[in-house]
Amino acid sequence: MLALFASSRRDGNTGRFMDQIAHELGIEVVDLARLRISPYDYAHGNRGDDFEPLMQRILAHRQVIFATPVYWYSVSPPMKCFLDRISDYLEVPELIPQGRRLRGKRAYVVCTSVCEQPPAAFLAAFRETFEYLGMQYSGVAHLNCEDGDLPPAHEAQVRAFAALVSSEGAGDPT
Ligand SMILES: Cc1cc2nc3c(=O)[nH]c(=O)nc-3n(C[C@H](O)[C@H](O)[C@H](O)COP(=O)(O)O)c2cc1C
Repeated sequence: MLALFASSRRDGNTGRFMDQIAHELGIEVVDLARLRISPYDYAHGNRGDDFEPLMQRILAHRQVIFATPVYWYSVSPPMKCFLDRISDYLEVPELIPQGRRLRGKRAYVVCTSVCEQPPAAFLAAFRETFEYLGMQYSGVAHLNCEDGDLPPAHEAQVRAFAALVSSEGAGDPT
């Protein structure tokens, strides 16, 4: 299991929430903003950047967590950039067979915002993207950070989400 994290600050609300979940699960958090992943290019002239090596790592896992704050009802810019680049795996002939390996993987969303619930459009974009890729949307963990910080007593949510993810992973075929 691997977590892909992207925010405009590493140690902000989403980063700390994701780190707590990752600590419970004993998994690595990859900070997309620290990698060289350039925007989608129709000519695929950017194939030498960090995107394909990262995808190779992702393809070795059965469960992938996507962690991002809600910025204007949507994901953070490095997360959007990453999602756009998945198109390479649907278009570049030698990558297409690899892209098919996303099918069946479990996908989770970890997010923070300043609302009670993540916006419907935000979650729908993830759900529909996962569905298009044949991935199985398997859950979301969200914290309302309206006071500027992680809310008090959120540790129960960290543990509950980690327990859900571990129990589902245990039942998946290898
Ligand atoms: C540029 C920007 C846009 C935001 N847009 C929204 C929004 O549409 N809905 C919302 O509930 N919160 C919004 N927020 C608040 C953040 O989602 C919230 O503060 C979050 O916890 C920040 O996480 P971070 O520390 O990882 O950046 C926005 C914050 C910023 C900086």
